[in-house]
Amino acid sequence: MQNKVQPKGTAKLDLNGKSFDLPVYGGSVGPDVVDIRKFYAETGAFTYDPGFTSTASCESQITYIDGDEGVLLYRGYPIDQLAEKSSFIEVCYLLLKGELPDADQLKQFTKTITYHTMLHAQFDRFFEGFRRDAHPMAVMTGAVGALSAFYHDSLNVDDARQREISSHRLIAKMPTIAARAFKYTSGQPFISPRNELDYPSNFLRMCFAVPAEDYTVNPVLAKAMDVFFILHADHEQNASTSTVRLAGSSGANPFACIASGIACLWGPSHGGANEAALKMLYDIGDVSNIPDFVKQVKDPNSDVRLMGFGHRVYKNYDPRAKVMQKLCHAVLKEVGATDDPMLKVAMELEKIALNDEYFVKRKLYPNIDFYSGITLKAMGFPVSMFTVLFAVARTVGWIAQWSEMISDPSQKIGRPRQVYTGPTMRDYVPVGQR
Ligand code: CMC
Repeated sequence: MQNKVQPKGTAKLDLNGKSFDLPVYGGSVGPDVVDIRKFYAETGAFTYDPGFTSTASCESQITYIDGDEGVLLYRGYPIDQLAEKSSFIEVCYLLLKGELPDADQLKQFTKTITYHTMLHAQFDRFFEGFRRDAHPMAVMTGAVGALSAFYHDSLNVDDARQREISSHRLIAKMPTIAARAFKYTSGQPFISPRNELDYPSNFLRMCFAVPAEDYTVNPVLAKAMDVFFILHADHEQNASTSTVRLAGSSGANPFACIASGIACLWGPSHGGANEAALKMLYDIGDVSNIPDFVKQVKDPNSDVRLMGFGHRVYKNYDPRAKVMQKLCHAVLKEVGATDDPMLKVAMELEKIALNDEYFVKRKLYPNIDFYSGITLKAMGFPVSMFTVLFAVARTVGWIAQWSEMISDPSQKIGRPRQVYTGPTMRDYVPVGQR
């Protein structure tokens, strides 16, 4: 442990007629933890927790979630305040360093990130190895992993300065790679970053500008992109972050670790949910079809789920969803799409579900993905880019969590155990005798 946890007493456990005392610790806020690190050595038994629903895998000082109250804090600051008053680049500094920057620190940090946005010229050729119709997430996973083949000078994870350089490179180059993944699959030439633009504007330009004409960044859309990035920047020990930590626990280089996080994020139960939520809205198609759809969701014999609803941790309204809903209205107004039928379906669906006994009883509330798909689509992104945008934003969270893990004196290689239910030892039988 990083020595910030406070001893709270002991928990007693009776197992096979013997009694064991297990230390209990408390964090600054949130549930206590029972320390089971010596559990196996002392009792000869493992704990069993598939999906880690009751397991704190590490000590962390980065992000706090109170799922019952619908609270999300980055380094103590509520997400709604950061979304309203901060910028993504400032949030990156906060997540990495623990405190908000002063004006000079922010200026220096912004400059550092800005001057790392270019990719090695040879890297551009790397994209050509992919089929033109490759999913941009497939390109992201491969391209980010390949960064370690281009930036050898920042791979030593035991060197704090090299770790810092890799962090800056990842935050800076991720939008450039994401925009190239987009351009490659849409058959358009790559657009280089521009140092005079801020982080979200630069990204939008790299995605949407074409050499044939000038491109002016719409400030409302740039602000929306920035807020989207802030909302997705970190979410404590979610599946992709835990993947990054687990990969990093073996000493793997940061680019390889972040590539593993991207691969995990791709799944529809995680980062792929905004894509699924938008598809669901299209499938419903019209407000009049909602009652039938809700009936299917509630049918115990059907697999249909209300995508963008429910969360492993939030048993209340996802605080990010509230901000996302406002953002959605602002973007649709800006692009003149307030009468988008999907928005009408989403709003009506939300109203019905929030008052329906099935959802109320199971504490199923809208999560961030419920409104993000409609918003991103209105901004001009195809559905296949949604998870890529999530990955761009989450990179800072992954890298902050990875750095924290590397500096944690109690860090060990991650190695869960299992309860084995397969065959016990048996002798090999040659093929002719089976
Ligand atoms: N629609 C209908 N019923 C649901 C839903 C849903 N979206 N989510 C959960 N339930 C029901 C589920 O059927 C179960 O009911 P019962 O007790 O009668 O069997 C109960 O609620 C508990 O569900 P669970 O699957 O045990 O809950 P979980 O914590 O394992 O699942 C979840 C969390 C996010 C995977 C799930 O709520 C879900 O599939 N939601 C839709 C997908 C989605 O929007 N995912 C994005 C998550 S937020 C993005 C992120 O942070 O990465």
